[in-house]
Amino acid sequence: MESEVKLASGALATLAVATAALVVLPYVQVRDIQAPEGLKPYTSAELRGRNSYIANGCVYCHSQQPRDKGFGPDAERGWGRATVPADYVYDKPHLLGSMRTGPDLMNIGVRQPSQDWHLGHLYQPRAYVPGSIMPSYPYLFEVKDQAQVEPSEVEVKLPPGHSPEGKVVVATPEALDLVQYLQSLKRNYPVLPPEPEGAAAQ
Ligand code: HEC
Repeated sequence: MESEVKLASGALATLAVATAALVVLPYVQVRDIQAPEGLKPYTSAELRGRNSYIANGCVYCHSQQPRDKGFGPDAERGWGRATVPADYVYDKPHLLGSMRTGPDLMNIGVRQPSQDWHLGHLYQPRAYVPGSIMPSYPYLFEVKDQAQVEPSEVEVKLPPGHSPEGKVVVATPEALDLVQYLQSLKRNYPVLPPEPEGAAAQ
């Protein structure tokens, strides 16, 4: 009987330590984090776009977590400064990602602000990056005759030779929301207090 009690209390103690280290401590660290001044909450269109980002599996190939200079050349690749917890206050669930088959997208709105580019790239990535292995998302678009296009619809301006013969490509509302979400991905405001005078010289 004695050894059962030891076993059970040992198991409980291990579980308690693991829960404290992996659940309670991280919660205490992040619960009071406030949104930085430069970060705006997502609009409803951006939130719809975010759902479509999840539904289309973009997170399986794209991370949203540029690393610190000490961990890799993310800043030199133009992916932005290392993110901090406050950058994710509006991200529920966060989309950190664990694969980088494609580039990190946490600052894609900074380095690629063009709606035309994003729409065209989603319709056919290889029209912009020959040999790209990113899938195309044709179901986010409609192919129509020019005469059928409504004035309110957004026509996709594809590079020469990539439009379907004699037709035009029109973005669906889902494609437009997804692009608004991508354009909103900007974490380039300052998050750390300015360095004290003379610190840079040392
Ligand atoms: C199978 C992996 C894969 C999936 C899934 C994927 N991508 Fe990509 N993505 C890539 C690769 C590889 C590149 C780099 C080549 C290129 O630009 O096409 C890329 C590039 C991009 C870029 C340009 C990045 C830059 O720095 O220029 C954007 C924006 C992008 N993807 C958005 C998306 C979105 C939105 C989705 C989901 C609808 C998605 N990707 C799904 C692999 C993927």
